[in-house]
Amino acid sequence: MRPLIVANWKMHTTLAEAMILANGVKEGAAELNGIDIVLCPPFPWLVPLAELIHSQRISSLHLGAQNIFWSVAGAYTGEVSAAMLKGLVTYVIIGHSERRRVFQETDAEIVKKVQLALEYDLIPIVCIGEQRRPSRAVLDEPAELTVSQLQQPLNELKALLRGLSAKERGQLVIAYEPIWAISTTPGAQAATGLYANEVATRFRELLPHGASVLYGGSVDANNASEFLHQPNLHGALVGGSSLKIQTFLAICRLAMGSSQ
Ligand code: PGA
Repeated sequence: MRPLIVANWKMHTTLAEAMILANGVKEGAAELNGIDIVLCPPFPWLVPLAELIHSQRISSLHLGAQNIFWSVAGAYTGEVSAAMLKGLVTYVIIGHSERRRVFQETDAEIVKKVQLALEYDLIPIVCIGEQRRPSRAVLDEPAELTVSQLQQPLNELKALLRGLSAKERGQLVIAYEPIWAISTTPGAQAATGLYANEVATRFRELLPHGASVLYGGSVDANNASEFLHQPNLHGALVGGSSLKIQTFLAICRLAMGSSQ
């Protein structure tokens, strides 16, 4: 499976910064083979970035959106529909913990968003993760992981899978993003590769064969290889470190050669 590295720029960058960043990644990506890189800028930069990226076809570089709405059209002031993004982006992040928490997105809305994404040929990257940090002992020795520690992500995953058809389930990318590890959470620190792999293994017991699972949460150039070389992880969702060209390219380079 080709490793997938997703840059989630969140609500950052001016247009000028976005163009510099995307151009830098584009130049670096020309030398990266065998991986897929997805840039997810804020909505207003998607069109100029699509022009920049597509001016010279680099097969490993794709665009993604950070969200879509759960309906395809109508009186929904301020929202963006999957239909509007079809042909413009290849991927869409759905159910990020910031959206679940700040915008109170529900599991049912997330199911609708995934269905619409697939209907409009967008690959959904669905974020799932728990609030509560496990003990140091469990992070180092994840075989000790209890069902109660994973109740929240497993419930989120089950709610998602229950709402989808077998065909839809087979087209999912899941991003395991423990909330306690996301760099903007106070006191955040990255999970361990072993722990993230163990959680991904439990996810896989519920997922159809071949679905990919990424890890996200304080990934940087120093810890990325720990996650990218785990047997049950197929890439990373990168927030803060995706805003620095050289750091992000270093993470992408580490992903090359981790394919299995
Ligand atoms: P981070 O963000 O890499 O800055 O922790 C990841 C995310 O929230 O998608």
